[in-house]
Amino acid sequence: MAEEMEYPEGATPLDADEMEGLKFPHVTTRGELDHLEQANIEAGLLWLKRRKNPDILNAQFVQNLHRHLFGEIRRWAGSYRLTEKNIGVAPEQINIHLRGLLDDVRYWVENSTYNPIEGAVRFHHRMVCIHPFPNGNGRHARIMADALMEKVHKAQPIDWAGGEDLQQMNERRTQYIAALRAADGGDYGPLFVFAGIG
Ligand SMILES: Nc1ncnc2c1ncn2[C@@H]1O[C@H](COP(=O)(O)OP(=O)(O)O)[C@@H](O)[C@H]1O
Ligand SMILES: [Mg+2]
Repeated sequence: MAEEMEYPEGATPLDADEMEGLKFPHVTTRGELDHLEQANIEAGLLWLKRRKNPDILNAQFVQNLHRHLFGEIRRWAGSYRLTEKNIGVAPEQINIHLRGLLDDVRYWVENSTYNPIEGAVRFHHRMVCIHPFPNGNGRHARIMADALMEKVHKAQPIDWAGGEDLQQMNERRTQYIAALRAADGGDYGPLFVFAGIG
């Protein structure tokens, strides 16, 4: 964090994590990468928009969506993580946890266990806890939760950003991370508030 302060906004050099699998070797700063990623994500969202009734609660769909969001930039897009991260299950457990989560969410939908937005928030949190991919998990899991809202429940997506950029350090992101941490400890209250419930 401290070293980010030494560079003008967007000029921070990429760290090893951010460089991993990059298809554009000439990209060296955070700002350049942000632009490329944003364009890729927009193309991925367009792909998603065109799917009228996709079966989103399916591991193949989860991977396809990640590939469409990040595949123009990253070689590993759509493939599960192979190394340990400080968040997430062990790499060899990703498949089983993800399938378990997708089964649970399908059950919630079929049995109206939660109202749609509450189910989508829980889905989002459990997805980021699994952390299936090397990077892009937050963005992908927010888009998955919104796909659950829009494609399955035919409801409005969640206003995650609240007029801010959740990828940048700001008050909104601080609240988001704090709410995820509370949910890690079993308290979903702050994440529900963050998502505009109540
Ligand atoms: N304590 C936590 N519990 C669960 N998820 C977390 C926690 N802290 C961060 N996250 C999630 O991990 C994401 C960061 O993972 P990353 O793969 O780099 O995604 P992205 O590149 O989209 O930001 C955050 O956006 C957030 O969704
Ligand atoms: Mg990231």
